[in-house]
Amino acid sequence: TRLYIPSDSAALALGADAVVRAFQVEAKARGLDIEIVRNGSRGLFWLEPMVEVVTSQGRIAYGPVSAADVKPLLEAGCLEGKAGHKLHLGRPEEIPYLKNQERLTFARCGIIDPLSLADYEAHDGYKGLRRALGMEPAAIVEEVTQSGLRGRGGAGFPTGIKWKTVLGAGSDQKYIVCNADEGDSGTFADRMVMEGDPYLLIEGMTIAGIAVGATMGYIYIRSEYPHAFQRMQDAIREANRAGFLGPDILGSGRVFQLEARLGAGAYVCGEETSLLESLEGKRGMVRAKPPLPALKGLFGKPTVINNVLSLAAVPTILDKGAAFYQNFGMGRSRGTMPLQLAGNIKYGGLVEKAFGITLRQAIDDFGGGTASGRPLRAVQVGGPLGAYFPEALLDTPLDYEAMAAAKGMLGHGGIVVFDDSVDLLAQARFAMEFCAVESCGKCTPCRIGSTRGVEVLDRIRDGIEPDKNKALLADLCDTMLDGSLCALGGLTPFPVQSAVRHFPEDFNRPTAKAAAE
Ligand code: NAI
Ligand code: SF4
Repeated sequence: TRLYIPSDSAALALGADAVVRAFQVEAKARGLDIEIVRNGSRGLFWLEPMVEVVTSQGRIAYGPVSAADVKPLLEAGCLEGKAGHKLHLGRPEEIPYLKNQERLTFARCGIIDPLSLADYEAHDGYKGLRRALGMEPAAIVEEVTQSGLRGRGGAGFPTGIKWKTVLGAGSDQKYIVCNADEGDSGTFADRMVMEGDPYLLIEGMTIAGIAVGATMGYIYIRSEYPHAFQRMQDAIREANRAGFLGPDILGSGRVFQLEARLGAGAYVCGEETSLLESLEGKRGMVRAKPPLPALKGLFGKPTVINNVLSLAAVPTILDKGAAFYQNFGMGRSRGTMPLQLAGNIKYGGLVEKAFGITLRQAIDDFGGGTASGRPLRAVQVGGPLGAYFPEALLDTPLDYEAMAAAKGMLGHGGIVVFDDSVDLLAQARFAMEFCAVESCGKCTPCRIGSTRGVEVLDRIRDGIEPDKNKALLADLCDTMLDGSLCALGGLTPFPVQSAVRHFPEDFNRPTAKAAAE
């Protein structure tokens, strides 16, 4: 009997390895013949470790399984997919959380053996590359442009236009760089791709290389992702061995080499120019733009730099065509967005949906509301530099334009929920403090402004000249917004200003000291 037990970091953190050992020990003791495949996660984290058994009725899931559950599960007939045990979940595809999604990028994640090329190809893998190999570079770029794909790292810049700039740049050497420095709070989609479907990213980068004329690619992976780094290295080795990477891809004469590199643990290295500095072996300091990396990027050469999710969307676009992908979504936000539900939420995990669902639908219909059962008070969307949304704005659609109109941003799709115990002044202070810690130090509004921001918020908290200090905070936010060189300093005012705007009561509380006077 074949069992699938995830090797995804989230499942590992919840004891997946101990579950594997327990199955091995129990099977041996009972003389059962089992084969365990370490798949990626389906992204239903509250059910991890989720064990799937291949039965005559298809795959049957059980979760969340602990090592102590293994014996009773076997006794209840889990290897035959029996329903007697309380952890029985039935067919995973029928779980509403999964059934109600539109999985394109994550179509295979959690289903296949991540390092099996045979599995990958049996599930439509490498169809996009095979088609791309028969196309002119400009036609590939045009297909990506027509699909409407926009940068999933957060800025939402049209991917096809970025590629076109690099294609048109004359140079002896060009590069593809994948930004896998996934640093936003509550995000894990990049990691899930790398751990659960690494060939998808490799295929996307290879297509990008062929499209713009780049023969070398780097994946810059944050140091906090050791499993993803190892998985990508293993997958690159396998892809080279099988001829999907290297000096002669599938006998086409096209060349594409790939290397995974480990970051050094700084949030700002997710900023593209800082990432390039780090890749070049220097300290992760932001470079001024222009020149754009598309024209002068890694080692001064034209470089496509895209997020994991942008590159991972490409194989589907090339395989199924631009029109297929374009058909999902709303307005100028086309395709699907892998949303990540986290924080104080009952059902945290990955939700891939066509653009257009609202924040409320994501949190209520998928997330099941707060984990604490207390009323929801605030939601931060788009990482530590994203705005806090109050209950009243939960009907905002999760697309680039609608989020911007609500003075927020979708960013990389991270959604972090807070219940009514949250203190928004403390959260605003955290944003300034985070910026102070992570600032690369190159420009004054960010380097000095963030530290002053913490001090001003402390004075507001302590009831010291609140009106004057609130005006000062507003001024400081404007300066950081307008005067910062990159998004770290430039976006820190988002969480601060949205907290002040939507939760003014948290900035008006008399302190115990002031109340006593
Ligand atoms: P940006 O708007 O300056 O640039 C977006 C991308 O388009 C860049 O790659 C840029 O080089 C490229 N580009 C712009 N004009 C171009 C042109 N004419 N031709 C070719 N390429 C062009 O935004 P930036 O500073 O790169 O990113 C900011 C965003 O990053 C924020 O909106 C935020 O959502 C996101 N972010 C994501 C994080 C994560 O962990 N994924 C963390 C922090 C911020
Ligand atoms: Fe560096 Fe901050 Fe300036 Fe960005 S805004 S360049 S992180 S000092």
